Amino acid sequence: MSEQIAVIPGDGIGQEVVPAARRVLEAVGPEFEFVEGDAGDAVKEETGTALPDETRSLVAASDATLFGAAGETAAEVILPLRSVVDSFVNVRPARAYPGTDALRPETDLVFLRENTEGVYAGHESRLSDDVATLTRVVTESASERLAEFACEYVEGRDEESFTIAHKANVMRETDGVFRDTVDRVADVHSVPHDEMLMDALATHLCLRPEEYDVIVCPNLAGDVLSDLAAGLVGGLGLLPSANIGPDNALFEPVHGTAPDIAGEGVANPAATMLSAAMLLEHLGYDEDGTAVRAAVESVLSDGPRTPDLGGDATTEDVTEAVLSRL
Ligand code: NAD
Ligand code: IPM
Ligand code: MN
Repeated sequence: MSEQIAVIPGDGIGQEVVPAARRVLEAVGPEFEFVEGDAGDAVKEETGTALPDETRSLVAASDATLFGAAGETAAEVILPLRSVVDSFVNVRPARAYPGTDALRPETDLVFLRENTEGVYAGHESRLSDDVATLTRVVTESASERLAEFACEYVEGRDEESFTIAHKANVMRETDGVFRDTVDRVADVHSVPHDEMLMDALATHLCLRPEEYDVIVCPNLAGDVLSDLAAGLVGGLGLLPSANIGPDNALFEPVHGTAPDIAGEGVANPAATMLSAAMLLEHLGYDEDGTAVRAAVESVLSDGPRTPDLGGDATTEDVTEAVLSRL
């Protein structure tokens, strides 16, 4: 029986890059059954809700989901969808691809971002005209689950070590739990690791990214540091991600709807195609995943380029080039 893939383009350039990545998925081996779902600003305008129940059910019932981006309603869409697939980790590789003009060509990082809690647990209050508060949640159980994944990830991929990003000098309780739990689990598995305050880490990543492999981070730190790493490798058009849960997963580019270029047909589809490669590998189609990755990398290296990478090619030009090299 063929696997069902939910496809949710969303808003803005999601409508451009997701169809491009779907064409790539259709061109490789597995016989997937694709089912499209709606989410985002446009659906909210029409129906009053950014994440219709049918879309939630579709994602829950599918073997994997390919998502694009949502605009103003992004938090109402992507955070619940991450919960629908029970995703406890967001895997965000940031690599400088040969031939692209990366600020830091040595960059080859993977962020393992906690995906359920931190400030995203969402207990915000407006106490008065003057005061707004936010409760940040960090649990030992979520930190442990992430750490177990990080250890397997490092061992399974011949990565050398991981770095724990935190700010336990200020958030002694919350990031203290995070750092100590991840550290303890890594000790149990004898996985080499170190830790670093996240502010200093941001500087080190800019200056010497080659000194880091895998970075294990709290939710918001992972959000910010992965966008920082996008800057090191040539922009948000290059960063894919995988929201992994125990029995389901959702794949999406790290970027948003890019309102400044949406509708022009020039969005870089690489991040979404590389997310599709992660989807293939997650479902066990390693050869197809490798083939997609290789075709995308080959086009990045000497094929047509979208304006974000200094070229004047369209999304369509890049997609045709990737398809022809598959
Ligand atoms: P963004 O990622 O949409 O854009 C930031 C910059 O990167 C822009 O200059 C944009 O043109 C460029 N860029 C991003 N992806 C690109 C691509 N594939 N090709 C070429 N250039 C690309 O971030 P933003 O501008 O801060 O946010 C815009 C909207 O997207 C907001 O409404 C935000 O809420 C939403 N957003 C959604 C998600 C999501 O759905 N997961 C993620 C981030 C932001
Ligand atoms: C991302 C986005 C989301 C996040 C927002 C839109 C909720 O920035 O996927 O990186 O913060 O996780
Ligand atoms: Mn983000």
